[in-house]
Amino acid sequence: MPKLNENYLNLKESYLFAEIAHRVNDYAKANPDKKIIRLGIGDVTRPIGSEMISALHEGVDAMASSETFKGYGPEQGYDFLRDAVVSYYKENGVSINADEVFVSDGAKSDTGNITDLFDKDNVILIPDPVYPVYVDTNIMNGRNITYIDANAENNFLPMPDKNVHADIIYICSPNNPTGAAYNHEQLKEWVDYALANDAIILYDSAYECFITDETLPRSIFAIEGAKKCAIEFCSLSKTAGFTGTRCGYTIVPKDLKFTVSTGEEMSLNAMWNRRQTTKFNGVSYIVQKGAAAVFSKEGMAQCKENIAYYQENAKIIADCLGKKGIRYFGGVNSPYIWFECPNGMESWDFFDYLLKNAQVVGTPGAGFGNNGKNFFRLTAFGNRENTMEAMERINKLF
Ligand code: MLT
Repeated sequence: MPKLNENYLNLKESYLFAEIAHRVNDYAKANPDKKIIRLGIGDVTRPIGSEMISALHEGVDAMASSETFKGYGPEQGYDFLRDAVVSYYKENGVSINADEVFVSDGAKSDTGNITDLFDKDNVILIPDPVYPVYVDTNIMNGRNITYIDANAENNFLPMPDKNVHADIIYICSPNNPTGAAYNHEQLKEWVDYALANDAIILYDSAYECFITDETLPRSIFAIEGAKKCAIEFCSLSKTAGFTGTRCGYTIVPKDLKFTVSTGEEMSLNAMWNRRQTTKFNGVSYIVQKGAAAVFSKEGMAQCKENIAYYQENAKIIADCLGKKGIRYFGGVNSPYIWFECPNGMESWDFFDYLLKNAQVVGTPGAGFGNNGKNFFRLTAFGNRENTMEAMERINKLF
């Protein structure tokens, strides 16, 4: 009989968004006449821009002739895409090298897979509330987690406690689920803390394209010293509407090296390369063609148009909550609006209440951690009409 990974017993029965889908499907089956508006999972609704679509078509066409056909590609990604990512960082004032860029099928997979590089015995610091993938993947590996409180008192931007040691630190900014974003000084404190503790920061910047405040950093590598202590995960899901197309990238600096028990120095870049070449055959050429177009002038302009559309949705949601006197966070520099459940309700109760009485789906804060117990998340990724209708329904409810 195989010995199973019993760490799975320590997970919640289903992944947060699977649980939500399950509850919504049950409701939809029982109430087929009701129009449900889904502002739960952060899934985009705008079609992909024509520049990316043309590039995807070019990729498909290349497969049809023996001169241009592509079989296995480089596991790390094609040079044309790695170079495009380097240029994108450069435009944002950050210098990275192409061999530090690893193309992947998205930040969710990479933030989970990165745990392969670390021993079970590490002090893992994770903010609460947080994107559940960081927690669940560490539980699957049998690791203990130390939580750091993100709450209304610290504007959901917890800062390091110099008296607590950590080896691995998860940071997501702009944050999923709270929408809060760190500034330079705050991130510098985290980098200094990581350097002082010989720790590594796993930095999720999947929502960087939503930053409108130009003083805020879009990459951890905008912070001095970060290349010695951070890995950055980014994604085209929200930047370019690739949630279904699947493409992201992870930056693992070559300066990122730690001395191990044998006295040798190990490079995280070399380890990740070894891991990816063994377990991953790369993202399809077709998708990488589409992804490279995101970084062209015209492609980026089209992506920005869609981002502006979602930003307007965020404003509509935030304005409605503000008018109702409901305390909210995010909505600016972020596609997420995080608010206190009205009348002291707990978030899963509020989820059921909203579904039943307004047919609006959101995400209960408790799904992101204990500190989310009385909070609720709405996404700006719906279409305009639905977003406005959802807010009218909420407006009438309270
Ligand atoms: C979310 O809703 O938190 C995200 O869409 C989930 C994800 O990107 O995996």
